[in-house]
Amino acid sequence: MDKKITVIGAGNVGATVAQLLAEKELADVVLIDIVEGLPQGKALDLKEAAPIEKHDANIVGANSYEASLGSDIVIITAGVPRKPGMSRDDLLSTNTKIVGSVVAQIAPLSPEAILIIVSNPLDAMCHVALETSRFSKNKVIGMAGVLDSARFRAFISMELNVSVENTYAFVLGGHGDSMVPLPRYSTVAGIPITELMSEERINALVERTRNGGAEIVGLLKAGSAYYAPASATVEMAEAILKDKKKILPCSAYLQGEYGVENLFLGVPVKLGSNGIENIIQINLKEDEQVALQNSANAVKELVESLKKIQAPS
Ligand code: NAI
Ligand code: 2OP
Repeated sequence: MDKKITVIGAGNVGATVAQLLAEKELADVVLIDIVEGLPQGKALDLKEAAPIEKHDANIVGANSYEASLGSDIVIITAGVPRKPGMSRDDLLSTNTKIVGSVVAQIAPLSPEAILIIVSNPLDAMCHVALETSRFSKNKVIGMAGVLDSARFRAFISMELNVSVENTYAFVLGGHGDSMVPLPRYSTVAGIPITELMSEERINALVERTRNGGAEIVGLLKAGSAYYAPASATVEMAEAILKDKKKILPCSAYLQGEYGVENLFLGVPVKLGSNGIENIIQINLKEDEQVALQNSANAVKELVESLKKIQAPS
């Protein structure tokens, strides 16, 4: 392949991302983890599946960062996932240190790379990546809105018994309990769901979407979701690699857009070979703008806690 993607963290999300990238022949893949043997074992296993899956992507596993040299995209999934009863925000302290150290090692080796951040708490980890890498803001992108919107779409399709392919949804805001699903902008074959469902049912689907991550954690008990998160991450990587100019909800560094200053927040963006090529400003009604602002306030609070963790004691 003429493109190279490094995936940091060979756990549930990272390994599934590597599998999808290879099976779609999007790039050669380097899988890195701190656990000795884990990335090497998973990479070899994936390579041995290649003749059956019919792809020629190269996949290597490593514990050191040299293998990542010259990556076009680096996807960061390193960190700890949440357990039942934990919120994404409970991961702040541990994952701040992990993401900070990963980005410090990756950035000098791939200065032209675009970083896709997956580790939680997502929006706060994007701040760590931006500050540590000193990359331009269009090259540090958080994955959350694509996942949350996919969950909303899945619930809409189940509710109305229609193909998922007919559904479209937008979930904005931070990747937490305050996320903002937008029913007015969520459609089935172009028809807003506000014309297809009662307010009560829409509210139920919105609530299920907000709790989508916790619902899976409650079922799995020993970790969090990874199939849908990996698919969402790969959709973003594909849009960038193929310069598709695709509009997707992603966590982007806002500087005044939507009235939000110097904060990562989920908004619609145009993804292409330069990363975030445009932040799309859609019209929000007053209640939607208030909900987005509340979500921004929740992210801001986390970022303030982050600064205390990062401050030298
Ligand atoms: P996992 O526990 O299966 O994998 C994490 C991997 O990171 C482990 O293999 C671990 O050894 C590795 N790791 C830890 N410290 C490292 C370091 N310093 N350098 C390299 N690797 C390191 O967890 P999973 O399920 O893959 O989730 C990963 C992260 O992604 C979690 O923080 C989780 O909350 C987050 N997540 C975010 C989503 C989103 O929508 N943004 C969706 C799903 C997960
Ligand atoms: C999710 O939403 C854990 O953030 C992850 O599934």
